[in-house]
Amino acid sequence: MTIDAGPATNGAPAGGPRPGYDAETTARLAADAAQIVARYPESRSALLPMLHLVQSEDGYVSRDGILFCAEQLGLTAAEVSAVATFYTQYKRHPNGTYTVGVCTNTLCAIMGGDAIFDELSEHLGVGHDETTEDGAITLERVECNAACDYAPVMMVNWEFFDNQTPASATDVVDRLRAGEPVAPTRGAASVCTFKQMSRVLAGFPDGRADEGVGAGEPTLAGLRLAREHGWTAPTTDQASTSSDQASTPAGEPAPEKPVTGGEQSSADREATTDADVDPGGKAESPGTKPDPSKGADA
Ligand code: FES
Repeated sequence: MTIDAGPATNGAPAGGPRPGYDAETTARLAADAAQIVARYPESRSALLPMLHLVQSEDGYVSRDGILFCAEQLGLTAAEVSAVATFYTQYKRHPNGTYTVGVCTNTLCAIMGGDAIFDELSEHLGVGHDETTEDGAITLERVECNAACDYAPVMMVNWEFFDNQTPASATDVVDRLRAGEPVAPTRGAASVCTFKQMSRVLAGFPDGRADEGVGAGEPTLAGLRLAREHGWTAPTTDQASTSSDQASTPAGEPAPEKPVTGGEQSSADREATTDADVDPGGKAESPGTKPDPSKGADA
């Protein structure tokens, strides 16, 4: 369905009806957009979450979505397209229900990431940024996900699947395509769809952000060693003092800073998912088998 928005504006084609969401969809998304825009001093600053919002509607940044963002933010369609084509998280063609991203950055690559990608590509019959015929899986090579201590890492809609092998990764995609429940090895208790994740990235929480531990055992290994040996980081008193003075009203004491690894740190947050409290038991589930060479933390 199309809407006639009258004279072309913001870079939309001139003359006659042009593509656009129907009235109900426009009203619903406009209400969401108003919440997003209200978070920023300038409406144009809301473009990144707005692009996630239209991805949550269409499964990619469609032409309708670009025109919607332009109209809501007072931008041209060309300006919106310029941003949408810059970042790889914005898809310019329909995405699969699950984005399966294999980290092939340096560390993951040498730990098996390249082999995992090649195995999945062969198994699924698709290459980078291509989607399986059933629309279930879009396969991608992705850059470092700051999870190198669990290499090689695979992401499904940005949830972590740590310490993967070609066999375990293949199990995961087979179960996703079969519609079976699949749980990440760390963090949230389940994997949501690409559209659902896009809505979260637009700034509408689904209540699952605090599932899982703040940091897993491999990440905390250095902290544990530091505590055992009484090691501390070098002080930065001078820098801290000038920074605190800049942000604290005159005459008031500077606020106490959280200590990394201390009681105020997320590192000690209690586990909330099965994977966190029983990583060994979870590792026995199909598709999440660890690499035995990585020990009990896998
Ligand atoms: S290199 Fe893969 S998570 Fe860092």
